Amino acid sequence: MSHIGLGKIILLGEHAVVYGYPALAAALDRGVRIDPVPTPAGGTLRVDVPSWNLKVTAEDDNSFAQGLSAIADALDLGRPPLTLVGDAQIPPGAGLGASAAFAVAVSRALLAHAKRPATPDTIAAAAAASEKILHGRASGVDVALAIAGGVGVYRKSTGLKPFAIPTLRVLVGPSGSPRSTAAMVDRVAQATSSSADDARLKELGALADTGTQALMRRDIDALGRDMNRAHALLAELGVSTPLLDALCDVARKLGAHGAKLTGAGGGGAVIALAPRDKEPEILAAWKTAGVSGFIASIGGR
Ligand code: MEV
Repeated sequence: MSHIGLGKIILLGEHAVVYGYPALAAALDRGVRIDPVPTPAGGTLRVDVPSWNLKVTAEDDNSFAQGLSAIADALDLGRPPLTLVGDAQIPPGAGLGASAAFAVAVSRALLAHAKRPATPDTIAAAAAASEKILHGRASGVDVALAIAGGVGVYRKSTGLKPFAIPTLRVLVGPSGSPRSTAAMVDRVAQATSSSADDARLKELGALADTGTQALMRRDIDALGRDMNRAHALLAELGVSTPLLDALCDVARKLGAHGAKLTGAGGGGAVIALAPRDKEPEILAAWKTAGVSGFIASIGGR
């Protein structure tokens, strides 16, 4: 049986969410699927995700292996003789929540193998142990979306508050540049002296609020304006790149309501909201810039 963790995009509020502000986020309609295959001859716990070129055992000395061990330890499961075979539909290190999706799918697979109940709290605690190793100071937004799916406002203090919206199409452009969430979170800490009172963090939090209202009344123009402003603030905090700026600029020039980087930045992905008839031109322009974008559907349930 397969076990899933979903990828995500952050529409508004990344980085500020680490300091307690709200983030407006949505699960993608794709993520990571894990199938546990018992190793009859025994041996240790391993993971094999061919599309990421990832093949590790829990004993290996790299961050994915340490994340795998952290999940097994958090669940108090030892090292069951299993190969967790993964099928990933999102790229790793692209700001689309791949590591959280992976950790959630692995947690679900291990709990199912041990015939233990997979409650959201148990999965979240185990996935958080892995995210801490991979990302340092994570807010938990990626894990919450990977488990629950849907669209919602996430705060560290209150968790994910989901709400229903009709389907919304979002253009997603993974830049292909690798980046480290931990390094970007550190960069923002330096730029703000780790102070939640920093005016840019406050404004990012306020934009998440006004953007949520706009999304709820389906005012995509207003949501797009908030996204544009958020991108400028994230750039001021030092987490954009010339390529991410260029991908957003061209999307806006070609008629997008709004565009911004999503996730930690420093590489990773951009998102854009655009009228349907403008989507092909934007994807074509991104392609010219070397980026294979796709259209994701969020909400709709
Ligand atoms: C990563 O998807 C979003 C950040 O805000 C980090 C986090 O919230 O864990 C950059």
